Amino acid sequence: MFLLRAGTTLLLLLVFAQSLGSPRSFSVDYQHDCFRKDGERFRYISGSIHYNRIPRVYWKDRLLKMYMAGLNAIQTYIPWNYHEMYPGQYNFSGDRDVEYFLKLAQDIGFLVILRPGPYICAEWDMGGLPAWLLKNKNIVLRSSDPDYITAVDKWMGKLLPMIKPYLYQNCGPIITVQVENEYGSYFACDYNYLRHLTKLFRSHLGEEVVLFTTDGASPGYLKCGALQDLYATVDFGPGGNVTAAFEAQRYAEPRGPLVNSEFYTGWLDNWGSPHAEVPTAVVAKSLNEILAMGANVNMYMFIGGTNFGYWNGANAPYKPQPTSYDYDAPLTEAGDLTKKYFAIQEVIKEYRKIPEGPILPSTPKYAYGAVVMKKLLTISDALDKLSFSGPVNSTNPLTFIELNQAFGYVLYRTTLPVNCTKPTPLSSPLNEVHDRAYVSVDGVSAGILERSKVIAINVTGNAGSQLDVLVENMGRINYGKDINDSKGLLSTLYLGTLPLTGWTMYSLSIDEAVSQGLLGDKEATPTDAPQPVALSPPTFYSGSFIIPDGIPDLPQDTYIKLPKWRKGQVWINGFNLGRYWPSRGPQVTLFVPANILSTAAPNNVTVLELEKAPCSAGPCTVEFTADPILNGPVYSDHKQRRRLFSKEDLL
Ligand SMILES: *[C@@H]1O[C@H](CO)[C@@H](O)[C@H](O)[C@H]1NC(C)=O
Ligand SMILES: *[C@@H]1O[C@H](CO)[C@@H](O)[C@H](O)[C@H]1NC(C)=O
Ligand SMILES: *[C@@H]1O[C@H](CO)[C@@H](O)[C@H](O)[C@H]1NC(C)=O
Ligand SMILES: *[C@@H]1O[C@H](CO)[C@@H](O)[C@H](O)[C@H]1NC(C)=O
Ligand SMILES: *[C@@H]1O[C@H](CO)[C@@H](O)[C@H](O)[C@H]1NC(C)=O
Ligand SMILES: *[C@@H]1O[C@H](CO)[C@@H](O)[C@H](O)[C@H]1NC(C)=O
Ligand SMILES: *[C@@H]1O[C@H](CO)[C@@H](O)[C@H](O)[C@H]1NC(C)=O
Repeated sequence: MFLLRAGTTLLLLLVFAQSLGSPRSFSVDYQHDCFRKDGERFRYISGSIHYNRIPRVYWKDRLLKMYMAGLNAIQTYIPWNYHEMYPGQYNFSGDRDVEYFLKLAQDIGFLVILRPGPYICAEWDMGGLPAWLLKNKNIVLRSSDPDYITAVDKWMGKLLPMIKPYLYQNCGPIITVQVENEYGSYFACDYNYLRHLTKLFRSHLGEEVVLFTTDGASPGYLKCGALQDLYATVDFGPGGNVTAAFEAQRYAEPRGPLVNSEFYTGWLDNWGSPHAEVPTAVVAKSLNEILAMGANVNMYMFIGGTNFGYWNGANAPYKPQPTSYDYDAPLTEAGDLTKKYFAIQEVIKEYRKIPEGPILPSTPKYAYGAVVMKKLLTISDALDKLSFSGPVNSTNPLTFIELNQAFGYVLYRTTLPVNCTKPTPLSSPLNEVHDRAYVSVDGVSAGILERSKVIAINVTGNAGSQLDVLVENMGRINYGKDINDSKGLLSTLYLGTLPLTGWTMYSLSIDEAVSQGLLGDKEATPTDAPQPVALSPPTFYSGSFIIPDGIPDLPQDTYIKLPKWRKGQVWINGFNLGRYWPSRGPQVTLFVPANILSTAAPNNVTVLELEKAPCSAGPCTVEFTADPILNGPVYSDHKQRRRLFSKEDLL
């Protein structure tokens, strides 16, 4: 009798447990101020990792290291412009295979907090919005503007159905999905836009998924960022008053779990400002306070990674971010373990059982040494190889987007209409060179115009001389009201008081030309012309190196350093590593992941030097070293950095 009754109870318990446990559920418990996962009280300790800043072959290594630190969740953005480079042309393969990234995270044992935008900030070009949106000059981004909404609906109509199978309730890893990003920091304050996004997300993802927003931890930010049906969370860095910061969340969300969606382990860099460093002890102390309150936290970044190619963003007034997105995070740009990593692990240990077993070591780095570079063609000598679409003529200059080019470089060419025997100012009075222009007259460098820094230079030359202006897009503003950041010459240049007309523009497909080997490897014939002292016209250089034999486990990661080179872009085997600018600082070395190196053939290094290569006295070299330098000297007039950072630093 007793046995029978016990058996029945057990059976009933089993049935009951099953009805609780299946289907899987994840929700906000307002009554008990927590999340609930399958009915159980749940708290996440998460870290940010952006798959778009790490080569695919290293995703697993980085995720495993994050797992061993004691995290139970990861957070990632999805950058729209990375997946839809041209309207309607989607790319989800290779390094852009976000589904594979989600599966990997789940296999390792992570839950995922997904932030699909459409706007993401992230120190990423234009905050993740595609530049082609700017074809409509009057578009109001991040608002109910119908043109913007049409594009968002189409993108989300592609992305969200793809994501749906990965929701927690559908047996995937995604527990929560963020709508927009820090919308309360944007001038538009358009509630209809947030309402539209909420409906859009719900229509694709269903009623059950927890949707949330993130804003700076003050009522001022939450006012325009929070909305009914979206769970409001906050973000704030270490060193402040954690209780007070969460009180701001309570302003928008009187009940429910406390959540810091971006707890800053470090901070972003800008060219010309000292490398940001946030002390480990400060990070550990605030993390401990957050966890002691029972709050949920996402550490931004847990690993920053790299802005390969042209993907870096910029702050306003115009200050672009460098190639490295190291962020002074607990894992370095290259995924290496730091003191900060172990300090954070120690804190987490106090609150949850961390996995046992060895932590993957930092990946080995190899110093391949110096590589001799030879001079190839200048940009203007290589125009037939670089300009796939041919020149376009127009009275006034066209922008990059009007030329259907999103990134890189465009050459603007015209002639001097008058004799300039005396130095005559060439200027952009309204500061509309976006962002840096390398000017030459009849093939001789005349100077550099730079947005918000140099709006006029002097030129000399006869009437009819060829004026070449190579304009570099240094990255679109990703934060604030100026994210509609067009590139190129936004209005014409003036010679003295004379507006220049009759422009011929060459859209340049440099990446394609480099990876297809179109620049050749014929060394430029040395000329008898005297070497320019200050600047040379933008010129390509190339060199190659072989991975040594007989050393096990090569190729390994490395860093490229360009001592005495000034500013430019560098490719290895056609892969665009990013921009170098040691003459501005603070970044000195660029991360070179092993997966782009080859043992089967010589590795080809291509450099586009925009200002002047160190080649006048003897051969010039680039150097592969085993040690990164991200905190080199800076040559700029920016104000000194504080040691702790907040949203206000971005204003
Ligand atoms: C898609 O992206 C991957 C990874 O960056 C790249 O290798 C591939 O060439 C891209 N495909 C197209 C069609 O552009
Ligand atoms: C950017 O958008 C804002 C808001 O619509 C507008 O006021 C501003 O003129 C635009 N700027 C440019 C350069 O188009
Ligand atoms: C932190 O903020 C809370 C709430 O505003 C306040 O009660 C407390 O005194 C503050 N702590 C410190 C050390 O300033
Ligand atoms: C464009 O302008 C250049 C320079 O003035 C001229 O040589 C060329 O013929 C023009 N091309 C077209 C298609 O008009
Ligand atoms: C420019 O100067 C040259 C002599 O150096 C002269 O022949 C020519 O007429 C001048 N052109 C203009 C447009 O003034
Ligand atoms: C341009 O030349 C004029 C006259 O020689 C000189 O006064 C001025 O400082 C120069 N401007 C620049 C920007 O070099
Ligand atoms: C480097 O360029 C050479 C010559 O074009 C080519 O044979 C070789 O395969 C290239 N190396 C790699 C790793 O692509």
